Formats: sequence, C-alpha cells, structure tokens
Amino acid sequence: MAGVTDRPFRQLCKQLGAGYAVSEMAASDPRLWASEKTSRRINHDGEMEPKAVQIAGADPAMLAASARFNVERGAQIIDINMGCPVKKVCNSWCGSALLQNEALVGRILDAVVAAVDVPVTLKFRTGWDRQHKNALVIARMAEASGIAMLTLHGRTRADGYSGEAEYDTIAAVKAAVGIPVVANGDITSPRKAKQVLAHTGADAVMIGRAAQGRPWIFREIDHYLRTGETLAAPTVVEVRALMQEHLRAHYAFYGDYIGLRTARKHIGWYVRELPGGEDFRQRMNRLESCEEQLAAVDAFFESQAAYGERLQYGLSEQRLAA
Ligand SMILES: Cc1cc2nc3c(=O)[nH]c(=O)nc-3n(C[C@H](O)[C@H](O)[C@H](O)COP(=O)(O)O)c2cc1C
Repeated sequence: MAGVTDRPFRQLCKQLGAGYAVSEMAASDPRLWASEKTSRRINHDGEMEPKAVQIAGADPAMLAASARFNVERGAQIIDINMGCPVKKVCNSWCGSALLQNEALVGRILDAVVAAVDVPVTLKFRTGWDRQHKNALVIARMAEASGIAMLTLHGRTRADGYSGEAEYDTIAAVKAAVGIPVVANGDITSPRKAKQVLAHTGADAVMIGRAAQGRPWIFREIDHYLRTGETLAAPTVVEVRALMQEHLRAHYAFYGDYIGLRTARKHIGWYVRELPGGEDFRQRMNRLESCEEQLAAVDAFFESQAAYGERLQYGLSEQRLAA
C-alpha cells in the first residue's frame, strides 16, 4: 500500500508472520526514478527475501524498462499494479483504469514478462465497474502471457473502497486458471481469512488495511489456519518493544523531518482501539521531535499495562472505515 507498506513496515510484517510482502507501487516513468519518493520505494537494502517490487504505469515499453531497472537493483519478483483506483493513477491511464483496455493489458503483460527473467505477478480488480467485470478475461490473458501469480481485490475500479468486497469473482478466477491466485479485500480477522480461502479456493490471502497498526495479524491468521485456535493478543511488553523498533527503523529510513511526520499515521493506527488512544493521538500529533514522539509512545504503551498484561485490542470492522 502506497504510503504505508514502506520497507520498515514490510520488515515488521514479515517478522510477525507475513509470508510475503510487496513494495509500494513505484512509478515506471524513468524521470521519477531519481526522485526521493521513488528511490525510497525501490530501496530494498537488507530486506527479507523475496524482494517483490510493484510497478505502475501504462506504457508497455516503459513498464518493461522499469521491471529491468528494478531487477538490476535486486528485485526478485515484479508485480504489475492494475488495482489502484486513485485519480492520480487513473488520469494517467494506469492502475485499474487499464482494465478497460484489454488489448493494452495484453501488451503490457507480454512486454514485462519478456523483459525480465524473474517471476512477474499481477495485482488487479474484478473489472472496470459492476457492468464490466472482466477479471476472468484478464486472468486468462495473464496466464497465457506467463504471469506467475494473480492477486485479485474483490471490488471493481468504480467501487473504489466502498461497499463490501465480493469473493465469487475470485472463486471463478481461481477455477479458471492454473497459476496461484491470492484473494484480497476486507479480510480483517483470522476467521474471515479462513472463510475467504474456503469460499474462493484461493492459494493465499492478502491483507492490506487490517495490518495497519496491527502487523501481528499475520501470525494470528497463520496460527488460526494451522490450529483452528485464536491466538491471544500480544502482550503490552512485546508491543512496547515493537513500537520502539518500528519507530527507530522508520526514522532511520525517512530521516527525522519526514520520519516524525509520517510516523504519526502509523502511531494513530496502533493506538486507535486502545484505552485512551484517541486522546493520546491528538497530543502525539503536536510533538515536534522524534525523541519526544518515541518517549511519548513508550509512555503510552507502558500505561497500557494498567489494563492487563495483554493489549485490550479488539479488531473491529470500524477499523476499515476509519
Ligand atoms: C492507502 C492505500 C494505498 C494503497 N496502495 C496500493 C498500491 O500501491 N498497490 C496496490 O496494488 N494496491 C494498493 N492499495 C490497495 C490494497 O493493496 C488492497 O488491494 C485494498 O486495500 C483491499 O484490501 P484490504 O481490504 O485488505 O485493505 C492501497 C490501499 C490503500 C488503502
């Protein structure tokens, strides 16, 4: 997720049970590769393997060049983004807007697969809008082009993030292709992960927003799928240490000025369901140095011990709406 799953956060998710994590989408336009934002997004130094880089764009040759560029810099898997609905992406005719032009999709898939000798995967939505759900067509084209894996978000481009994800189309795609299919959209709990796997027959699930402020959701899901039992919430002691680790890695990655500011949203997500979390978030947002932020977060989590040994943390549907 752009603006969320940066390298420090991916590392944390992988440490906490995610089997796989993909970079934030990186622009395929070479004029942007040297920009601070894109170069950060394609920085994988020290990242746990496999290093998967997502590229976004609409021009087959540019996407092919971008794939090669990222492989030269250490990418072991290239993921093509045809799932993003935001205007900035769609106005320049990429992300999920591409789903409207199947011939162009085919040219992009062929060009990128031919450009690199690492696996190329595709992230997409169920279609352009509910009247034009062409996920099956795209999935078959992708398989024929040599795409190694599909991740399908159960919404159309027109849906944005509204309504609920549907899983029937994901089931239909899984039944129609021989390559692995990953189901995505609104999976917020271990139980829901199990239901979606059963409903779709998918090979894996992908978690997006539910991991914000809850990176341990991956081990919770893994545990539930393996044992059928719900893992207890993490202890306050563990999360306190984890927060320090996340924030230090975050500041080191972004530098203090940007790091202080971009850490605020992560901290807000971590605390939002905890006792006193909203008050704390407002106070924390006014702090102007990384040292103060780090100390305040540490004190907040220390205070959580008053409510119990484990975090009083209920994963609710409201998390997605927030
Ligand atoms: C802030 C934000 C940024 C996102 N950025 C990307 C992106 O860069 N690439 C991508 O494939 N999907 C992106 N997505 C979509 C998610 O990967 C995912 O498909 C979607 O949120 C549905 O899954 P979820 O319900 O588990 O969050 C983004 C979503 C959000 C909320």
